[in-house]
Amino acid sequence: MRDLALCLFLFFLAKHVSSVPTKAQFQSCLSTISKTPTNLTDHTDSTLYSPSLALSSPSSSFLNLNFTSLKPILTLKPKTESEIKSAILCSKKLGVQVRTLSGGHDYEGLSYLSLSPFIIINLVNLRSININLTEETAWIQSGATLGELYYKIAKTSNVHAFAAGICPSVGVGGHISGGGLGTLMRKHGLASDNVVDARLMDVNGRILNRRTMGEDVFWALRGGGAASFGVVLSWKVKLARVPEKVTCFISQHPMGASMNKLVHRWQYIGPELDKDLFIRAIIDNNVEGGQRGVKTTFQALFLGGIDRLIPLMNQQFPELGLRAQDCSEMSWIESTMFFNWKSGQPLEVMLNRDLRYEDLYYKAKSDFVQKPVPEHVFEEVTKRFLEKETPLMILEPWGGKMSEISETESPFPHRRGNLYNVQYMVKWRVNEVEEMNKHVTWMRMLYDYMTPYVSSSPRGAYLNYRDLDLGNNTRTNTSFEDAREWGEKYYRGNFKRLGLAKGKIDPTNFFRNEQSIPPLF
Ligand SMILES: Cc1cc2nc3c(=O)[nH]c(=O)nc-3n(C[C@H](O)[C@H](O)[C@H](O)COP(=O)(O)OP(=O)(O)OC[C@H]3O[C@@H](n4cnc5c(N)ncnc54)[C@H](O)[C@@H]3O)c2cc1C
Ligand SMILES: *[C@@H]1O[C@H](CO)[C@@H](O)[C@H](O)[C@H]1NC(C)=O
Ligand SMILES: *[C@@H]1O[C@H](CO)[C@@H](O)[C@H](O)[C@H]1NC(C)=O
Ligand SMILES: *[C@@H]1O[C@H](CO)[C@@H](O)[C@H](O)[C@H]1NC(C)=O
Ligand SMILES: *[C@@H]1O[C@H](CO)[C@@H](O)[C@H](O)[C@H]1NC(C)=O
Ligand SMILES: *[C@@H]1O[C@H](CO)[C@@H](O)[C@H](O)[C@H]1NC(C)=O
Repeated sequence: MRDLALCLFLFFLAKHVSSVPTKAQFQSCLSTISKTPTNLTDHTDSTLYSPSLALSSPSSSFLNLNFTSLKPILTLKPKTESEIKSAILCSKKLGVQVRTLSGGHDYEGLSYLSLSPFIIINLVNLRSININLTEETAWIQSGATLGELYYKIAKTSNVHAFAAGICPSVGVGGHISGGGLGTLMRKHGLASDNVVDARLMDVNGRILNRRTMGEDVFWALRGGGAASFGVVLSWKVKLARVPEKVTCFISQHPMGASMNKLVHRWQYIGPELDKDLFIRAIIDNNVEGGQRGVKTTFQALFLGGIDRLIPLMNQQFPELGLRAQDCSEMSWIESTMFFNWKSGQPLEVMLNRDLRYEDLYYKAKSDFVQKPVPEHVFEEVTKRFLEKETPLMILEPWGGKMSEISETESPFPHRRGNLYNVQYMVKWRVNEVEEMNKHVTWMRMLYDYMTPYVSSSPRGAYLNYRDLDLGNNTRTNTSFEDAREWGEKYYRGNFKRLGLAKGKIDPTNFFRNEQSIPPLF
């Protein structure tokens, strides 16, 4: 049955491929469609889309199909918004799909890989950031990175920040539309919770704002993944206030009974702590000082000084034994560097757009935990981690603001009742199918092992940790019913409303990918 489906699929694809427009045809369309002379250059980036990198996509469905992505017909790096319009209209006319790329960090490569003929719109040239301190807001073009945003905020004010992710090279375009969790979430929520307006280009090339797109679509953009709805040109966000001095610390614990006890204890404490205190736990296995071994690192940000932190820790988490000399006070921007292991380096490292896992390939998955996991599970995780080169598990505490926002306020539904989010990751260096299969299989087994201890019916997943294992998605025209399998893991009860918003803004399902929201009417 599966083989038959695969054959049919390849047959359709083969038929499709023979009618794929050439680069020249696409360019000729671009020059006829725009009334004003545009300057659309083809910037095909041969390094990003080499077949070996396409193969490196850890995506399971590409893998199961034993089939790698097509190459894009061309990659555009528009310098103006009207160039994006031309690209959309030509793609529609020529029957090819659009992949919008902001930071390019999608875990399954959906911003630059596709099984259907496609072009890439890379927003790297559209990344201005305008901060209004009177309003405490910023307009950010989608091509900006979190690092560029944090840097600009810090250059403008020493008491403002933005609540979003930790890695500076992540793009604002994908990140904000998929949620965006980071060190400030217990106090200020997700990046998507702090969006107050957005400019969206729709399938007809119209530019809509919050008022003109309507509340349903605006709701959908804040956590539903913008790729299903159009191209987000820019976001208007609410900045967060932070003290001039914050405090950071790390506390590391080697594998063993006391580590297991501590992580176990953290599950009760992390989500209940003062909102000003964020302590995440990272379990990994890495060579350190030539010695391999599993360890847990608690990495923390406190929105205040050491003098307030130490009594708080003594009272709420004495098991960690934190001392003043383990802590450092710094500015908020320095804390973003601390979390990236870049303390002491020039601020400008935050502007480096190229901090992806360079020559590493990886597969990730996510979970939400609602009741504390028994201690023996961390013992088993340690055992499994010892077999692997670079496995990683990051536990990020919920509670605070995350539990105050209702499940339907935005498409991101994982709110009250969750203790923490888990991200699992495994990385490898050899870009071969066999190697990839080995690691992906290991990851799936770990995920299976965790089943009894995490959320269920549906098992929750975080869109920004995209995972094509979650359900049916070998076609870009999956029906809404088939898509529920993964859709309800990401969005729970919000999935239907996302389908309706999709039906409103893009009824012909032009904006689609291997895991986009099908339209409902
Ligand atoms: C090293 C690393 C660290 C990370 N750290 C964190 C973290 O701390 N917290 C967290 O929450 N997540 C984190 N993530 C996950 C990250 O938030 C997601 O991968 C996010 O979607 C990346 O956004 P991007 O713009 O870089 O990716 P892209 O690959 O460019 O885009 C992701 C998706 O959004 C679509 N898209 C992008 N731009 C637009 C646009 N302007 N309009 C419409 N659709 C668009 C793409 O087509 C694609 O489907 C991390 C990822 C990596 C690789
Ligand atoms: C077109 O782009 C090229 C290269 O970026 C630039 O040198 C040239 O000035 C641009 N022309 C116009 C009309 O904008
Ligand atoms: C891909 O197909 C080849 C040839 O049929 C087979 O040997 C290989 O195992 C397949 N790989 C995967 C990942 O399915
Ligand atoms: C900032 O916002 C205020 C209040 O809405 C507004 O009056 C002002 O014009 C804005 N400043 C800029 C530079 O846009
Ligand atoms: C995928 O969709 C088909 C129907 O198209 C369904 O039979 C199947 O159960 C779904 N799930 C998986 C994992 O294939
Ligand atoms: C998806 O596309 C295939 C191939 O073109 C077609 O046979 C199928 O009916 C389509 N399914 C949906 C749900 O539109």
